[in-house]
Amino acid sequence: MTDAGKRKVRAVKFHIHTYGCQMNVRDSEAVAAMLLAAGHERADGEDDADLVIVNSCTVRQKAEEKAVGKCGNLCAAKRERRQIVGLMGCAVKRLGADVFRRLPSLDFAVGPRRFGMIPKIVADLAADGWPKCGCGANRLELPDEDEIPEGLSAHPDVSAGAVDAFKSYVTVLLGCDNRCSYCIVPDVRGHEYSRPAREVIAEVGCLAARGVKEVCLLGQSVLRYGLRNKAWEDGGGEPFPRLLAALDGIDGLDRIRFTSAHPKGCTDELVRVFRECRKVCRHIHLPVQSGSDRVLREMGRHYTRAEYLAAVAKLRAFDPEFAVTTDVIVGYPGETEEDFEATRSLMDEAGFDNSFIFKYSPRPGTRAAALPDDVPPPEKERRNQALLADQERRGLMRNKMLVGTVREVLVEGPSLRNSARWSGRDAGNRIVVFEPTPSVRAGELVDVRVTEAHPQILVGEVA
Ligand code: 5AD
Ligand code: SF4
Repeated sequence: MTDAGKRKVRAVKFHIHTYGCQMNVRDSEAVAAMLLAAGHERADGEDDADLVIVNSCTVRQKAEEKAVGKCGNLCAAKRERRQIVGLMGCAVKRLGADVFRRLPSLDFAVGPRRFGMIPKIVADLAADGWPKCGCGANRLELPDEDEIPEGLSAHPDVSAGAVDAFKSYVTVLLGCDNRCSYCIVPDVRGHEYSRPAREVIAEVGCLAARGVKEVCLLGQSVLRYGLRNKAWEDGGGEPFPRLLAALDGIDGLDRIRFTSAHPKGCTDELVRVFRECRKVCRHIHLPVQSGSDRVLREMGRHYTRAEYLAAVAKLRAFDPEFAVTTDVIVGYPGETEEDFEATRSLMDEAGFDNSFIFKYSPRPGTRAAALPDDVPPPEKERRNQALLADQERRGLMRNKMLVGTVREVLVEGPSLRNSARWSGRDAGNRIVVFEPTPSVRAGELVDVRVTEAHPQILVGEVA
């Protein structure tokens, strides 16, 4: 029995604000699951909560400021609201004890690989006479770089009908050892650790038995699964493609996705799995970052423009509709107009279905932070806008190819913009909007014939 189980702990209502990537979304879900299992309840919102937790990101300066700023506002209101406020996630590991200089009345701060401690911290605070508001307990928990978190396989029970009742994230690879020059992730999320394949298979099996139709396997560089430490008890094939093939056999599950990928991991074995395993969605999120060989070398990405394009061509060779999405950084130190134009042309050649553009932001302690951040902010903005406009045009062109085709759509429910229409996603992760028929249910697969293409969505009718 845990400490929290032995003591009589007052049940608290909690609320979690999540910033950042899917990994953070997943960590927040695991924390929620553990708090629920300890007898606590979800609050309706932050006003109604006894405990508010902010899960933070630090990948760019702005992302960190947003999360820490939100936490600051919560700390300012905590005495009046009689709340306990905690910060978790990547910004905690970057700031360390400094976090309490920035947020003196914060009650606790927990780094990314130690989120499993949160129920115990909550139990300690509650045992101490909850809530002693205003003062801030200032408890700090920093994980080390090889730590294996508790609670990795904890999932909350969610009500039927909620999107998260039929779609679930599953963390398979923690940390990152790539050391790209600009990226702070390895410093805050530690070394790579692949969870044992049998543990992942068991988790996905449980989720499918509970009605989950789609899982998305998470790792910063997920194709490196099983390369630093063994994931399978025996040898036998490339670890990640083998994991996908094993999950493909799970009854009740309809779809398997994963993110993020690296061109080095786009092996023939992976291509074979995409071709042969019906449940593995034909979509890859393959961050390119730049189209200039010079910049790619400086970034330490370990591929050239030609190698990247060859990986995309390999995937599209057996299915021209294979969806490829990407991340790009504009304004990396020393990025010239010529480098930028190389990125632009690469994006057209690759024919990305969608792309996420980021303005370079120096992160303390990374190799690139030692270089002058010499592309002026208005120029970064111009490059950003140019790539966004290109993507609108390219997205429309790619989507037009799909008019008249039938997409298998996992239904999510009424569309946010117009509730008379419903939306869902096809295997390529494209948003498909359609008029629902009486038999259409959220969480089910339905065939939709595409009638209209837009840059970001497809519109169609139930086939
Ligand atoms: N500045 C801007 N963008 C960054 N990314 C990672 N680090 C930085 C940085 N320092 C982007 C990359 C990555 C995505 C998650 O965030 O494009 O793929
Ligand atoms: Fe950062 Fe590179 Fe790791 Fe991605 S693969 S998280 S860009 S270090």
